[in-house]
Amino acid sequence: MKQVKTILLTGASSGIGLEMAKMLATQNHRLILVSRSNERLEAIAADLAKKTSAEILVHALDLSMPQAAQQLLSYCDAQQFEIDILINNAGFGILEEHVKIAPEKLRQMLQLNVVTVAELCQAFGARMKQRRAGTILNVASTAGFQATPYFAAYGASKAFVLCLSEAIAKELEDAGVRVCCLAPGPTDTAFFDAIKPQQIDEGHYFKKAGRTNVRSVAEAGVALLTHGGTTRVVGLANQIMIFGNRFAPRSVVAAISKRLLKPVNIT
Ligand SMILES: NC(=O)c1ccc[n+]([C@@H]2O[C@H](COP(=O)([O-])OP(=O)(O)OC[C@H]3O[C@@H](n4cnc5c(N)ncnc54)[C@H](OP(=O)(O)O)[C@@H]3O)[C@@H](O)[C@H]2O)c1
Repeated sequence: MKQVKTILLTGASSGIGLEMAKMLATQNHRLILVSRSNERLEAIAADLAKKTSAEILVHALDLSMPQAAQQLLSYCDAQQFEIDILINNAGFGILEEHVKIAPEKLRQMLQLNVVTVAELCQAFGARMKQRRAGTILNVASTAGFQATPYFAAYGASKAFVLCLSEAIAKELEDAGVRVCCLAPGPTDTAFFDAIKPQQIDEGHYFKKAGRTNVRSVAEAGVALLTHGGTTRVVGLANQIMIFGNRFAPRSVVAAISKRLLKPVNIT
């Protein structure tokens, strides 16, 4: 019989995280679902418990708060959970001129997408190294492979996730701990709810019609956990785009990104 794992999954209340939770629950793992919304997590847990025999626990926490990683570690220790798989998926983006972003919003995004991810990798990675077992899956983005004007700090935050993942994958490989990184392109989730619809018309790179189905992104994430590999860019078109970046000067790639990402209402 397949061994049941204890999986800590952040950003499980919606989008890619929710789809991964649904898929992992069918494999009967014990899931600890984390996001800010306790109500949504409880409803998801109740629904998954009805449909599967997985053990589903929820823990509401704002991961953009300093100390959030430590609080999550303390919660898992108090419950005596040994985390076999950590999935750092919670995150959000801001499509805006960098100089116009509200400073508090910028701080929250960087704390969530960068600092908390690094701290959770450190805290749970150390436990996994001690046990000489475990897997960490970090969700980056195709935005992390080049400069992304108007999505600047978000793209940079995902470049951090990508480089952190690939570096600690090497550090931890000899200790039996696997670190991998999923890089989706635009995916049809609530991620885009934060962007004003008038900023992205049908010609924009983020247009609804061009987004990948969330289920296929979650499948790529679960496949990465199951089949191995370090970094996976989701979708052939995204893979070609990222590969093509290597053959152009970085300034040219940044200029192309600017054309693709510039919000419609910005002059
Ligand atoms: N959608 C895309 O086009 C796309 C592309 C590439 C990469 N990604 C990455 O994929 C990941 C998941 O995004 P998604 O597309 O699935 O977006 P989503 O549907 O908006 O889901 C985001 C998840 O993160 C949680 N979250 C947000 N802020 C949080 C906070 N401060 N503390 C704890 N949890 C928080 C949300 O739950 P609560 O609101 O309940 O807290 C939600 O469960 C993100 O890291 C994103 O950067 C997305």
